[in-house]
Amino acid sequence: MISIRHEYTPCTAEPVLPDDLGFGRIFTDAMFVQDYAPQSGWRDARIVPYAALALDPAAQAFHSGQMVFDGTKAYRRPDGRINLFRVERNAERFNRSAQRMGMPPVPVADHVAAIEALVRAQARWVPARSNAALYVRPVMIGAEATLQVRAAHTYLHYVILSPVGSLYGEAFRPVSVHVSHEHVRAVRGGTGEAKTPGNYAGSLYATEQARTLGHQQVLWLDAVERRYVDEVGAMNIAFVYQGRHIRTPTLSGSILPGITRESLLQLAPDLGFTVEETRLDVDEVFDAIRTGTITEAFGMGTGALISPVGRLAYREQEAVINGFEPGPVARALFDALTAIQYGRRPDPYGWTRTLDAA
Ligand code: PLP
Ligand code: COI
Repeated sequence: MISIRHEYTPCTAEPVLPDDLGFGRIFTDAMFVQDYAPQSGWRDARIVPYAALALDPAAQAFHSGQMVFDGTKAYRRPDGRINLFRVERNAERFNRSAQRMGMPPVPVADHVAAIEALVRAQARWVPARSNAALYVRPVMIGAEATLQVRAAHTYLHYVILSPVGSLYGEAFRPVSVHVSHEHVRAVRGGTGEAKTPGNYAGSLYATEQARTLGHQQVLWLDAVERRYVDEVGAMNIAFVYQGRHIRTPTLSGSILPGITRESLLQLAPDLGFTVEETRLDVDEVFDAIRTGTITEAFGMGTGALISPVGRLAYREQEAVINGFEPGPVARALFDALTAIQYGRRPDPYGWTRTLDAA
């Protein structure tokens, strides 16, 4: 079991947060850190004041990009306590990402204990506003100073926290999405299933291009045939057919296995919707939007939870979905998921871990 040293003295003043939290702009004043070396394994686990890291300029992360991260959230319950959402699933995915990048695992129980200890120490930063939460960002980087292209021998694992509002401005505001033909995010057998920064770096140029065309996000197609829908931005995507059939791409090997996606696939049948994981041909999707067979589309991810897609631009054409308004299925799923996350309703799925008043 991990033993965590507390080198952080909580200040007594309440944090003063701006009205508009944005996403990932504000950070709390402490972080969790531990180091790895082959002889000792993970050691020196500590909660310290939030501060810049001292890294060798030759650190492996900077040259080979040997890094992974993850993201979950802590939610303020009506009774004042805090819910962590599926934090073990995040810790498991973190380890799958780490394995893919040739990095050592962090024992899941230790990782969860570290996140719990940090969130407890920073409990005052968990906002009590609607649609706000404390985003938890664990990161691991190759820290060894070497220019050789091989797995590092030493690593740094840290967790930072950010009080956040909604990922894309106003919660639940539909986004306009540009289908990318020229660029792909990830390829089967590559690193798309891992949460590693290179996937995001490689997506930035196409996303900026989409922005200049007036869209907020990119719809990524499969890299081989450039025909099947993969993901939207940094979220999984779902389409609603005829107001009740939810279809989402099968985890093909290039798609990040989202925990929001997984949770919504479990939740949706209990709300009376059918769910199907399948291959979705972009031509068929676009036709189904135009004929009205697809009644809604939305992204699924921790940041926005559910982000309705209001418009799809595909080649030279555009199609508006549900009059650029959030649809009833997205709304029902959002309400049911957030009720569990924020502890407004009982959690029959065992997804939340409630921290006692800190
Ligand atoms: N897809 C990508 C590429 C992501 O970065 C994320 C965000 O974590 C997701 C999907 C959604 O995953 P989750 O629901 O676990 O946040
Ligand atoms: C998400 O949580 O949906 C994300 O995509 C995280 C993002 C900030 C990388």
